[in-house]
Amino acid sequence: MTPARARVLSGMRPTGALHVGHLAGALRNWAALQETHDCFFMVADWHALMSEYEHPDRLGEFAVSNVTDWLACGIDPKRSVIFRQSDVPEHLELYAVLSMITPLGWVERVPTYKEQLREVAGRDLATYGFLGYPVLQAADILLYKAGVVPVGEDQVPHLELAREIVRRFKFLYRRDLFPEPQPLLTEAPRLAGTDGRKMSKSYGNTIGLADDEATIRATVQQMVTDTQRIRMTDPGHPETCFVCQYWKVFAPGRAPQVWEECRTSQRGCAQNKRELADVLIEVTAPMRRARAAGGYSEAAVRAILQDGAERARAVARATMRQVREAVGLA
Ligand code: TRP
Repeated sequence: MTPARARVLSGMRPTGALHVGHLAGALRNWAALQETHDCFFMVADWHALMSEYEHPDRLGEFAVSNVTDWLACGIDPKRSVIFRQSDVPEHLELYAVLSMITPLGWVERVPTYKEQLREVAGRDLATYGFLGYPVLQAADILLYKAGVVPVGEDQVPHLELAREIVRRFKFLYRRDLFPEPQPLLTEAPRLAGTDGRKMSKSYGNTIGLADDEATIRATVQQMVTDTQRIRMTDPGHPETCFVCQYWKVFAPGRAPQVWEECRTSQRGCAQNKRELADVLIEVTAPMRRARAAGGYSEAAVRAILQDGAERARAVARATMRQVREAVGLA
């Protein structure tokens, strides 16, 4: 037997089209992890349903279009298991078992729960299912015995809960089935939208991975730059300029010089945006090429998900056999 590589699991909720924030925050990281780890990448459609249950009509469409973008970013179905959570019923089975052993107080004090209840406008998240959101996430991870979970900073409390659940399972059933999963944070800072607010499709301030060149140029043209800089001869403040932040994330090699030119008034905001548009067009070019070449038809993507579901299920079934045995249901 070949020694198993450390296992990674991560997921994304299919709630909209992907944008360059996903590329910087997750996909580049996922693609790199394939070199060193045994990776499972999941469309978290049940998690999406927990918040989008009132308007779930496009979840299936987004699942396919998101996976198309994953593939175009270099997520490789030969090396990694790409699957849809709802194709593997064992997620719900383990979720149910973990629900039995998770104290109510633990989920009630997860910060995202209270925050989202307060902040997510226009949606009623005071549901039984939403309280269980991080428990389902723990089930996602434990089902594959993943030790490494690449996530954004906001997800760290969910990983902490998952580790607590692992310890409780071990204590209750005297079985050491699961490693304690560790978050792997992306280096990229959270990228603001083109208007400086949180990047979100609903604000119309994103640069989509499937946008065409003209759209990218138009969006970047409208970006807010340095509000303290009135004339080009004024010195710029790259550390607070959104355009300069994008430079840092998408052209880290050139950014120091761009920032310096900006500070010393050798570079105006118009030039800065024009050249950033070039950078973003280049960064997203492989995705447009892949879509144009038609390599990822809907049928092809569905076949990849089907194959991924089978590979994921084989692992999930084996884990559930052990879990059933541990909890006395064998
Ligand atoms: N909750 C994650 C998010 O909103 C998505 C997710 C679901 C996930 N299951 C997961 C991430 C398991 C990592 C591991 O971003």
